[in-house]
Amino acid sequence: MKEINRESVLDALKNVIDPDLNKDLVSLQMIKDISHTNEEITVTVELTTPACPLKDKIKQDCINSLWNEFPMVKEIKINMTSRVTSNNIGIKNSLIPNIKNTIAVASGKGGVGKSTVSVNIAVALAKEGAKVGLIDADIYGPSIPTMIGLIEKPKIFQDIETTKMVPLENFGISVMSIGFLINEDSPVIWRGPMASGAIKQFISDVHWKELDYLIFDLPPGTGDIQLTLVQSLPLSGAVIVTTPQNVSIVDVKKALKMFQRVNVPIFGIIENMSYFIAPDTGKRYDIFGNGGGEKLSKEFKVPFLGSIPINQNVRESGDKGSPVVFEFPEIEESKKIMEISRNLAAQISINNLLSKTANVEIILES
Ligand SMILES: Nc1ncnc2c1ncn2[C@@H]1O[C@H](COP(=O)(O)OP(=O)(O)OP(=O)(O)O)[C@@H](O)[C@H]1O
Ligand SMILES: [Mg+2]
Repeated sequence: MKEINRESVLDALKNVIDPDLNKDLVSLQMIKDISHTNEEITVTVELTTPACPLKDKIKQDCINSLWNEFPMVKEIKINMTSRVTSNNIGIKNSLIPNIKNTIAVASGKGGVGKSTVSVNIAVALAKEGAKVGLIDADIYGPSIPTMIGLIEKPKIFQDIETTKMVPLENFGISVMSIGFLINEDSPVIWRGPMASGAIKQFISDVHWKELDYLIFDLPPGTGDIQLTLVQSLPLSGAVIVTTPQNVSIVDVKKALKMFQRVNVPIFGIIENMSYFIAPDTGKRYDIFGNGGGEKLSKEFKVPFLGSIPINQNVRESGDKGSPVVFEFPEIEESKKIMEISRNLAAQISINNLLSKTANVEIILES
């Protein structure tokens, strides 16, 4: 009979592969604690995100592998924890040392659901246990305050060294928007450099807590303003939102090329307003066409993170200031958004691992 000790337990866990990261848990240094008696084995696994889409599978694979090796034990306990990884070397400046990953949500075309997707992904990741911030980078038409149900002015944080604004909080996320600082009915005239300057201040002059993910809801388009923004923001990567229709796809291609030009990785494409299921008949209608997002992801070789149907609850929750994943967690659209958020978190982890390996290779080569 095989002896239970730290080495033999680790040997058994070398058979468990994280399918996203494509390596075994031991090489990935995910095994944190091992304790055992002759009757019981307890292992702590540390994932790279609390929103890991394969959490249950990895846990079950650990249990199976340990039972296989040690059939005589009475109990196997796997504690699943997480610590979000980062690629700070890839982030362009050190203004944000306590923010691990920054994600732009963009599209070429307006009105495709960037703000809706940004708010709901932020809330979804927070529901999974991540520390999440959201910056409304659409200073021309800030819609985040309405969608997240926040209207008050941010408080000021002051200590001997700094004076900063404190982000507002709702649904477990920290939020900053120009909409908190200006009156709704007074239009603001920003020129390009002023716009990106203002957004940069949302990073440098705001007292952000430690964050796993900071999401930027970008303004629509691929013009000078957007280009200046994506060049000047310290972005880990971007997510592109599209609808399935051709006019949207044409603009999305421009957005993809814009990010590629400034070397910002694309974490994936989300197709919004994909189809409509009639609530009375259950019949599906492809209002804006079908499959455009997936086709695009193949063409540009970027991951497809998932699609969100059109649903009145999505729109109404946004208008009401209570995101659909919070208000109606049980409906299909919310489940899809949760799944998309987990897929995004996985892509970020994959990117961080790949860039870590790439950095090691660069160091070894030089
Ligand atoms: N899946 C959906 N089902 C129903 N309504 C939706 C869905 N996604 C977005 N909407 C609605 O469509 C409208 C536009 O969405 P949103 O404001 O999120 O788009 P946007 O891309 O941020 O727009 P803009 O380019 O103006 O910033 C909103 O009224 C929103 O509630
Ligand atoms: Mg918007």
